[in-house]
Amino acid sequence: MQKKWWKEAVVYQIYPKSFMDSNGDGIGDLPGIISKLDYLKDLGINVIWFSPLYKSPNKDNGYDISDYQAIQEAFGTMEDFDRMLEEAHKRGIKVVMDLVVNHTSDQHKWFIESRKSKDNPYRDYYIWRDPKDGKEPTNWGACFGGSAWQYDETTGQYYLHQFAIEQADLNWENETVRKEIFDMMNWWCQKGIDGFRMDVISLISKPDVYEDGPINTGDGYSGVGAITANGPRVHEYLKMMNKEVLSKYDLLTVGETSGVTTEEAKKYAGSDTNELNMVFQFEHVDVDADEHGKWTMKPMHLPDLKAIMSKWQTELEGKAWNSLYWNNHDQPRVISRWGNDSEEYREVCAKMFATCLHMMQGTPYVYQGEEIGMTNFPFTEIDQVDDVESVHIYDTYVKENKEYTHEQMMKIISKKGRDNARTPMQWDDSENGGFSTGTPWLAVNPNYTVINAKSQVNDPNSIFSYYKKLIRLRKEHEIIVYGTYDLLYPEDEKLYVFTRTLGEEKLLVICNFSEETVELPEDLKAMIVEQKGILIRNYSEESEKIRPYEAIVYQL
Ligand code: NOJ
Repeated sequence: MQKKWWKEAVVYQIYPKSFMDSNGDGIGDLPGIISKLDYLKDLGINVIWFSPLYKSPNKDNGYDISDYQAIQEAFGTMEDFDRMLEEAHKRGIKVVMDLVVNHTSDQHKWFIESRKSKDNPYRDYYIWRDPKDGKEPTNWGACFGGSAWQYDETTGQYYLHQFAIEQADLNWENETVRKEIFDMMNWWCQKGIDGFRMDVISLISKPDVYEDGPINTGDGYSGVGAITANGPRVHEYLKMMNKEVLSKYDLLTVGETSGVTTEEAKKYAGSDTNELNMVFQFEHVDVDADEHGKWTMKPMHLPDLKAIMSKWQTELEGKAWNSLYWNNHDQPRVISRWGNDSEEYREVCAKMFATCLHMMQGTPYVYQGEEIGMTNFPFTEIDQVDDVESVHIYDTYVKENKEYTHEQMMKIISKKGRDNARTPMQWDDSENGGFSTGTPWLAVNPNYTVINAKSQVNDPNSIFSYYKKLIRLRKEHEIIVYGTYDLLYPEDEKLYVFTRTLGEEKLLVICNFSEETVELPEDLKAMIVEQKGILIRNYSEESEKIRPYEAIVYQL
């Protein structure tokens, strides 16, 4: 297997709005981030991925960009960015930018021009269609609810938006659009950034023929993401991007690819396909979805999760590269979602999930606050929620089609909504968790007095110290990065057991996903008798049996 720096790296994701506020306006910013770089160096991560820092009207918290070459005022200036880049590099930390080029904000100068007239030079930068029988061109439904088409009175046509109305889809068919994007990417690379995380990149190539899809969203539309995913020219576009930009630098590139299969991933992130380094797949985070999509309390069934993770581990082996994640700014906190965030189990549980993920093959991503075991937020009212997606789904299911009661929906939002990940980082036990001296834009989780970074950085038994150790082990043991993966006991509903192998070396990873104390199967006990040592474990004392949420890694 070819060795690469980005295969050996651990990435830390910062959601800038919620990381650290330096000026008391309740919004995180670049000077705040700079002040915490030593914390990240101490953790040992090699790369930071920044959710969008660009100028944006913030309809979708920066994923609606109005200027790709300017910094959002609330975050600071371009000088602050340059200083942050320099300070990060000084500490050996690389910087990966979010790249949101499926769509722009409707406030981007290209769109402002585009909507002016049918013959405007920017008209063809976006996707415009005539009405069909006086209605939307197709029945496609936007990811955040309603139609994916928005009527514009000025010209009597509809434009496509797969996300919010204010996020208009760019027309990748247009060569000039591609050139503008590639020029902008080169501009950032010239500045010295180290990579891109590419937002919904699997959705940029639209179908050849625009026709109705099967109706399947809660409000009677057809989910557009399923229709546009892995479109006819997506690989051609990425190969162009690779040639014009990516191949010229030594970058980490990761595509966010909803709807991706392992077969498709081998094209996006194949070692010889000249597109990206790796993709974020969604199958494992969709494991607890049902006919309501993610908006359900359906529990996770461990054999299903293991089957998905293992498929990705083995099918990409030697052909493409995995990204590894439980959390990000779109996912609820995993310990609240599939684990146990009670006082009794939160710590061991957080360490168990970390062990399971960090012992797999691929590049691990740590989402801010994960390293201290932050949890979901106890939302009870919809006005506590900022996220455009949760607000839309509340309106659809509670107000419009009455699928759920207010109480049911709030329970689901507290379990699955994106704001669970977006509450401010909990730095210490002072007011607002030390995030801001002003009023935070989104409430701080009330558990900040117990869960905060300050209480953990110097405690050798903390979750933070455990992550530190996992990250260090990855640097010390090649087998963790490059070893092959084999799943044991696929049907076991409590234990996730797998091995990693590199040459003569072998690791055995045992994780208990349940609250029960479990007897190990005899053949596993026999393997353990032969062990050469323990690499890491989340309980200190020995035990015959595997305790609730126990994780242990043996060297065989
Ligand atoms: C995926 C991003 O991760 C999410 O936060 C955003 O809302 C959509 N793409 C639209 O850009």
